[in-house]
Amino acid sequence: MLLGMDDAQQADLRLALKDVAHVVRSKTSADQIAAEYKSLNPGAAIVSVHSDTPALFGIIHNISAAGGIVIVVSETKDPELILRSMRAGAREFVLESDHEELRLAVRTHAKSTVGAGELGQVVTIFGSKGGVGATAIATNLAGAMQRRNLRVCLVDLDLYLGDVLAFLDIPGSYSITDVLANMNRLDRDLLASSVTKHRSGINVLAQSSKVEEAEQIKGPDVAALLEFLRRNYDFVIVDGVRGFDEISLAALDGSQHVFMTLTQDVPAVRNGQRCLELFGRLQYDQGRVKLLLNRYVKASKITIEVVGETLGQPLTHTISNDFLLLIDAINRGVLLTEVAPRARITQDIEGLIPHLLPERAPRMRRQSLLGTLFGKKVVDGTT
Ligand SMILES: Nc1ncnc2c1ncn2[C@@H]1O[C@H](COP(=O)(O)OP(=O)(O)OP(=O)(O)O)[C@@H](O)[C@H]1O
Ligand SMILES: [Mg+2]
Repeated sequence: MLLGMDDAQQADLRLALKDVAHVVRSKTSADQIAAEYKSLNPGAAIVSVHSDTPALFGIIHNISAAGGIVIVVSETKDPELILRSMRAGAREFVLESDHEELRLAVRTHAKSTVGAGELGQVVTIFGSKGGVGATAIATNLAGAMQRRNLRVCLVDLDLYLGDVLAFLDIPGSYSITDVLANMNRLDRDLLASSVTKHRSGINVLAQSSKVEEAEQIKGPDVAALLEFLRRNYDFVIVDGVRGFDEISLAALDGSQHVFMTLTQDVPAVRNGQRCLELFGRLQYDQGRVKLLLNRYVKASKITIEVVGETLGQPLTHTISNDFLLLIDAINRGVLLTEVAPRARITQDIEGLIPHLLPERAPRMRRQSLLGTLFGKKVVDGTT
């Protein structure tokens, strides 16, 4: 929510924040602002202050005292203004012209506006072939969401050879089988205290090393698990979905968003074509499957336009190629947001988040994907 700005300033900040937040402008008079803030309940207020706007410090104080988050922007880093803003309860003071810093402040401080009681979004990162970077994207997307104070659970559905625990360098204490067995008893707090946690705060669910347990998990279990998790998290990020076996189909069917991930090489694009064809035959909604070009290199002979033409739709999401940074993070079990928050690759991954916020989510299709393929119904209560 933007406060204390003229039209030009507002337009400028709106543009700066377009990939980071949904921006609204306060329309009321100064004395009504605290009440409006309460009723709109935005993730944060961005207040523009000058030395001749003393009333705004009172507003900052009122919003902060009511539990709101205030980020102050100003033309100059005047020590007096900084001091007054901080005294009034502002979390951050940013130069108006420093859009990068403002985006970072919003990402760091703004609260998620995904309301309690709403269902979270299941996002599957689906590689068009092996090795395209699905796990790297899934783990770091989860990290970026966590950093924005979104409640996120990262699920590794590769029940035998999953990589997520290794990428995050954590032991898998509580497994998918454990959650399935206790789903009826677990409330949000109990679940959060049971699942494995990365130090960034991401909750992680993977399979234990017991092969016989993995063998017991079937499509309907996966469907039930994802439904359960979306009642408890803002986002459920799913990795380890390969091809179109029963488990994969249940995961795809239970996802509101599928990022089909490709790279600029013939096998990945060719497989991508086949996957899209299958998604089409299975009557996916327009909008659920998004194409994601990973390791994007502009100079590649297989250009982004060629990939888009081959697949019959333009590619709007790209992630830069940065092998050295990424492999170092993977080998150390750390997230890109922790070690290189400003790197291009990190920002590209963070840039996916606004496309996943609920208002942009496609409507759930009533018909089940599994049902379409196998002529049977998924036990998830929605079919
Ligand atoms: N954007 C990127 N830039 C540079 N290297 C990348 C990028 N994304 C992934 N990689 C590298 O590609 C390799 C494979 O990544 P990752 O394991 O995430 O792929 P995957 O699709 O999960 O593979 P698998 O099919 O084995 O599950 C890793 O070495 C990783 O560092
Ligand atoms: Mg993987």
